[in-house]
Amino acid sequence: MGFSKEFVWGAAASSYQIEGAAFEDGKGLSVWDTCCDWLGFVKDGDNGKVACDHYHKYKEDVGIMRELGLKAYRLSISWPRIMPDGTGRLSEKGLDFYDKLVDELLSNGIIPYVTLFHWDYPYELQNRGGWLNSDSPEWFAEYTSAVVKRLSDRVTHWMTQNEPQCYIGLGYKTGEHAPGLKRGLRECFKAGHNSLLGHGKATMAIRANAKKAAIIGYAPVGSVFCPATDALADIEAAKEATFSVIDQNFFNSSWWLDPVYLGSYPEQGLKAFEGFVPDIGANDMKIINQPIDFLGVNIYQANLACKGEDGKPKMAERPIGYSQTAFKWPVVPEALYWGPKFFYERYKKPILITENGMANADWIAVDGKVHDPQRIDFLYRYIREFKRAATDGVDAMGYFCWSFIDNFEWAEGYTQRFGLTYVDFNTLKRTIKDSGYWYRSVIETNGENII
Ligand code: GCO
Repeated sequence: MGFSKEFVWGAAASSYQIEGAAFEDGKGLSVWDTCCDWLGFVKDGDNGKVACDHYHKYKEDVGIMRELGLKAYRLSISWPRIMPDGTGRLSEKGLDFYDKLVDELLSNGIIPYVTLFHWDYPYELQNRGGWLNSDSPEWFAEYTSAVVKRLSDRVTHWMTQNEPQCYIGLGYKTGEHAPGLKRGLRECFKAGHNSLLGHGKATMAIRANAKKAAIIGYAPVGSVFCPATDALADIEAAKEATFSVIDQNFFNSSWWLDPVYLGSYPEQGLKAFEGFVPDIGANDMKIINQPIDFLGVNIYQANLACKGEDGKPKMAERPIGYSQTAFKWPVVPEALYWGPKFFYERYKKPILITENGMANADWIAVDGKVHDPQRIDFLYRYIREFKRAATDGVDAMGYFCWSFIDNFEWAEGYTQRFGLTYVDFNTLKRTIKDSGYWYRSVIETNGENII
């Protein structure tokens, strides 16, 4: 069986991580622009002022995507680039950039998949409380309407938000990411609830303004547990653990997915977070639970679970000397089998892998090329598992590799390379890596060469 004929092969990136041109053409500040100036916020004092300079090099980059054989490209829009104050006034030049990018993609036969919010939140709105302000869902809907009015004569695939677990968990709770806040649980849950309302209102705004039928999804972190063994009891334990909300940790799946796909917060989470959960308005869950077409998930790794002696799932140890990426993330290819399977069984929507890939210690070799056999092996193993899920009945919609290009890896700056294309950040020269050419062969055969 494997992948269907309609399966979408692509790669992803996000605005702040690649665009640069941080202060050009009337762009407003984002919280990442300002946080990068804080001493010690980003490794080596790096920032996204230039990044890959994609803003100026987008034609070259679309050429690279074409060379990679991509059928689709997942990009994000910089909110403050098109709305410098976060609401109201639009920047014509900012909108123009995305117009040109979309046109360039389409004329190269690449379908744009647009994420509305991938973390570069307008600084002006942060000064008014950001996601803690009860007007924030409306602000997000207003911005969404402006983008959709402009691009939906050509763009049909939309994702509202990327990884709320991170921009709330790391942005509002631990302060490792912009806006760099360290707030108590009550406020974090309030911000999280407002961002979920923002998702719902943005979904309505897309439907209300789209000129062409819109296909809408969401791109949270897919926090996954894989069974430690093949035993049925461990498989059940892994499934239960994948949807459990047992500690006050934002990196779970069901707190962020159940409201969107099922219309309620998970009971277990409501209990675990009792006293911290914000007041939920009578209509809120209805707003959040809009009809939606697919489930996008970013999956890179997984924990392992087995059935404990008390019958409950228990976190299992990883094997000694387990494989890790350059980022020290465990390599767990089965995450792309069990994740999609568990998510499909619970939410019953087509599964789009919106991000998967690895950071590797890449450099230009003496022959001028970039040899990254680890990444090829990593992608091979993960895609093989997703193919197995598709064969076992999961509605597998597509796969987007993170990323088509090395880029600004948030608090890690330029120290982690995730690209299929290498960037020399001093000269901005791009070099397609061996993995990029290999990925092209996977796309060409619709995954037939992965066995
Ligand atoms: C995330 C983001 C990406 C990252 C990628 C690698 O998952 O943090 O969506 O922006 O760059 O995932 O960490």
